[in-house]
Amino acid sequence: MTAAIAEPSFAHRPVPPAPVPGTRELGYAELLLRLRSNPLTIWRRIHFERPVVSGKSLLGHAVVLNDPAAIRHVFVDNVANYRKDDLQRSVLAPGLGEGLLTAEGDVWKRTRRTVAPLFTPKAVAALAPRMEGPALALAERMARRRPGRVLDITHDMTRVTYDILAATLFSETIAGGASAFSKALTRYFETQGRIDPLDVLGAPAFVPRLGRLMARPAIRFFEDEVIRIIKARRAELERADEAPADLLTALLRASDPETGVGLTEAEVGANIVTFIGAGHETTANVLTWSLYLLAENPDVLDAVEREADAVADDRVGAALSGTGLDLTRAVIEEAMRLYPPVASLSRAAIADDRVGDVAIPKGATVVVAPYVLHRHRLLWEAPERFMPERFLPPARAGIDRFAFLPFGAGPRICVGAQFALVEAMIVLTTLVHRLRFAYAGDGPPRPVQRITLRPADGMPMRVDRRR
Ligand code: HEM
Repeated sequence: MTAAIAEPSFAHRPVPPAPVPGTRELGYAELLLRLRSNPLTIWRRIHFERPVVSGKSLLGHAVVLNDPAAIRHVFVDNVANYRKDDLQRSVLAPGLGEGLLTAEGDVWKRTRRTVAPLFTPKAVAALAPRMEGPALALAERMARRRPGRVLDITHDMTRVTYDILAATLFSETIAGGASAFSKALTRYFETQGRIDPLDVLGAPAFVPRLGRLMARPAIRFFEDEVIRIIKARRAELERADEAPADLLTALLRASDPETGVGLTEAEVGANIVTFIGAGHETTANVLTWSLYLLAENPDVLDAVEREADAVADDRVGAALSGTGLDLTRAVIEEAMRLYPPVASLSRAAIADDRVGDVAIPKGATVVVAPYVLHRHRLLWEAPERFMPERFLPPARAGIDRFAFLPFGAGPRICVGAQFALVEAMIVLTTLVHRLRFAYAGDGPPRPVQRITLRPADGMPMRVDRRR
């Protein structure tokens, strides 16, 4: 079923850039090359047209699911039969340790129970006022630059989401260290963010991977820094009753509601690094693509500017309640549909299973790629077009829950989803209220998957003051 939109044609809007899917089956060598350079280019037309594509590949038996009912089966109904697969873990685990994102089994269950209360809507509402300062500071920095100057806004978006995490996680107590910390993090993502052919081929962990070796100093730097921050905070908590009401204090005080046991210092550290790793680039990319799509679609931009202007006195309250920001939120969702920051998810089948008439043998890799799902011919009307209106009521209600998965689904759904949405709304309304962005690249930006889905050569924009 496609979600119908009761609007006239949107054909006047430019089609946002995306690799053109081929028809030819890729040989192993070519598949490896593409996995390394840009995994978005491995998807063929049949993936965007058929609900299930199953067969042998480099990953062994792989089943690519784009059928909402089948996805629900794997992520919810029979979730106990699936674990995160080794490829996904090997790409992420070296930097993120046994944090929530990469943990499995009992460690994951205990950590999730302990950490989930920190991200409830109420907890996010308490953190949200800390998000506006970094957004205002970015708007101010941009407004002070020479009018008309072209900037690569990916750096600004990475900086603002980092500053927001620093403010909500540890109240910016890394005095003087914040920029070194964020540089180390960027280096980690640049070096670590490529899929290593040795991982795809299942080479054992003791065979060194180039990207990982290059990332090691960066990983060590931010792990050491996090441990230092935790020790300082623990000492502060022991000394005084009052402590910053941020996520670090909450993590140190949190305990498993079932057993009453708290997290160890190493677990607190792994989760801080995980929140930064999982919540920094992802949200930055949503902001970058949203600003690009707005810049290219003046009719939508006008309406979003009106929303941003109307809530300027209380944008935090508006972002939390959603009141008055319907279109802004729809633009953010449409940006995540076209350019989902987490472009693919994969799971390994523990035992034989079946979805409809397709067998999923034990050991098979199940791939659910939001990038493909969100552009699937059977699920979306004009999938390649930018139409935020599809996320406005009443059309929004027609979108299948399992056809739109920017945050995943089931028990392992993104714990920071509400945090990220509120953050994106606050930053976007702050920027759009104050500034106007025009795309200034020579050709269209080229989407590429490097852990997150980002523009390959940055996002050059001319930034001018509106007011
Ligand atoms: C737009 C921004 C974001 C997107 C698109 C996103 C997307 C995702 C997705 C797709 C997953 C599921 C992965 C899987 O099933 O294999 C996930 C998990 C996770 N995300 Fe996010 N995320 C975002 C922001 C954040 C933020 C801001 C935080 C924390 C502050 C965060 C923390 C996590 C954690 C800890 C997990 C692991 C949950 C678990 O396994 O129990 N994310 N995210």
